[in-house]
Amino acid sequence: MRTNYCGEINTKHIGETVTVCGWLHRRRDHGGVIFLDVRDKHGIIQTVFNPNHPKAFEIADGCRSEFVIGITGKVCARSQETVNTKMKTGEIEIIAEDIEVFSKAVTPQFPLDEHQDVNEDVRLKYRFLDLRRPESQQRLIKRSKIVSSIRHYLEENSFLEFETPILTKATPEGARDYLVPSRVNPGNFYALPQSPQLFKQLLMISGFDKYYQIARCFRDEDLRADRQPEFTQVDIEASFISQEEIISLGSGMINKLLEEFTNYSAQDIPRLTYADAMERFGSDKPDLRIPLELCSIEETVQNEEFKVFADPAKDPDSRVVALLIPGGNDLSRGQIDEYTNFVGKLGAKGLAYIKINDINSSDGLQSPILKFLSEGCVQEILNKTKAQTGDLIFFGAGASDSVNLTMSSLIKKIAIDLNLYNKEWAPLWIVDFPMFEKNKEGNLTSLHHPFTLPVNGLSELIGNPENALAFAYDIVLNGYEIGGGSLRVFDSETQMEIFKILNINNDEAKEKFGFLLSALESGCPPHGGIAFGLDRIAMLLTGTQNIRDVIAFPKTQSATCLLTEAPSHVSALQLEELWIESTFSEDQ
Ligand code: AMO
Ligand code: AMP
Repeated sequence: MRTNYCGEINTKHIGETVTVCGWLHRRRDHGGVIFLDVRDKHGIIQTVFNPNHPKAFEIADGCRSEFVIGITGKVCARSQETVNTKMKTGEIEIIAEDIEVFSKAVTPQFPLDEHQDVNEDVRLKYRFLDLRRPESQQRLIKRSKIVSSIRHYLEENSFLEFETPILTKATPEGARDYLVPSRVNPGNFYALPQSPQLFKQLLMISGFDKYYQIARCFRDEDLRADRQPEFTQVDIEASFISQEEIISLGSGMINKLLEEFTNYSAQDIPRLTYADAMERFGSDKPDLRIPLELCSIEETVQNEEFKVFADPAKDPDSRVVALLIPGGNDLSRGQIDEYTNFVGKLGAKGLAYIKINDINSSDGLQSPILKFLSEGCVQEILNKTKAQTGDLIFFGAGASDSVNLTMSSLIKKIAIDLNLYNKEWAPLWIVDFPMFEKNKEGNLTSLHHPFTLPVNGLSELIGNPENALAFAYDIVLNGYEIGGGSLRVFDSETQMEIFKILNINNDEAKEKFGFLLSALESGCPPHGGIAFGLDRIAMLLTGTQNIRDVIAFPKTQSATCLLTEAPSHVSALQLEELWIESTFSEDQ
């Protein structure tokens, strides 16, 4: 039917008769001549109808936006004054001889013109239309190419792809499970996998050595702009492999993608320890395109009278930091108030600052806190932060978690507002994660997951679990965590010890992970792996900040699908068959 894609026709085709098929993007009637712009996934081409072909002319006259049509005609050069340099096919047009209408269309619910802003909810409700927009098409095409490039890379490295179950048992990755009731096993439920973690470990125990899967994962957690309830991982596992070898494999993959899809040239990816990342950036996913870092000043302020700083400076679970903003002296009072509100919403009690009007003058500093600090202390802060005339220093003081959250968020916000990025791409490995962190109740929980291998063996794990380091690593790109992994525990004794630290008793461990424990006892190779967040990688490589833009049929922030209206009610009969009675009532 079709001889060429619209967007692929160029001056080389001049003189050829072609047939293009697609959607009517735009129709213009110039009194006596009708222009139909036809669109397919490769682009848009202008076709011209004139009364020399009366039948085609009449059909073209009746066509409306989004009709599906096929047009046959001769490719011609446009006259000099009608060349459109903004269009890929702007030098040519098709002089139409014949047209077929395959399908009519109602007026689209929103214009498909990429320059028009349309509310995202409307776009998601009519996703089939939204995906026709050239911008959406290009993103999804790029995603497909990214997946293809990843498959090539992993296959070149001798990885084999296996599928793992979707109806399965809980795979703990820190989120709630999506549960599926079993009709034939009354009262029992499957869990959808939060990741293929345990199955990929079992594949190693079975001897498959190098596994990968483009795997769908499901997590019932609070959603953000870079999180979806169902998302896709590039899941990787290998046996007889060291942390270095996994980092090298992962670096190769990310470098390849950046080289193929951006103008980045492959480089060694830098590394930071978790402790250094938290100290310098207050975050385990710092954006190294931003030349701003925190400077710890506990020692400088701990003996000052200013309790706002001195108290947290003496508390081991708190911190006091200075953040130098070069050139920040230009910030207005209003902007500083705005930043104070911003950190306030994240839980900070205030945002002290010092403006440096003139570093060489005794009254060259301007700040509401100068009166509370000794001269020596202020001088030391200026020295430590290497402040210069024209700069500004912000301060954060309080519980470490809160200061880290607020000040790392402030770094990212100021970088956006003042456009402080000094490079386009900043990949980074974070290594030496602790095994555990304390939750709000003061209990230890896994920072990665419970199957992560401790660096210093069982004795440290038992004696000093809070300080035990893990063979665990994350990869960060431009401030987004795009992957994470670890070496795994490969003996049941260590695994049981970890469960004990996590307050999972023997019976519970056997009930939940008995299959893993028995596999670990059956001859288990040392193994480890990593999983990359494919959606986040696609999001970054297509230059958007919204993960939904790179997922064909995404869910909203409240985990609903506006297109199909899932989740939805089911009939009483279906519930009965599943042995389920709902306790929900509409007035809850
Ligand atoms: P982790 O939980 O770190 O590790 O997940 C790996 C990567 O998956 C991406 N990701 C998400 N992307 C979109 N929406 C979400 N809700 C979401 N959650 C995670 C992130 C993250 O870095 N089994 C381990 C991996 C391993 O140890 O090999 C795991 O799942 O980019
Ligand atoms: P206050 O004594 O509370 O009026 O605070 C004096 C200055 O310190 C103000 O500029 C506050 O914004 C700032 N400030 C108060 N609490 C904190 C905090 N926890 N971290 C940083 N600055 C703070």
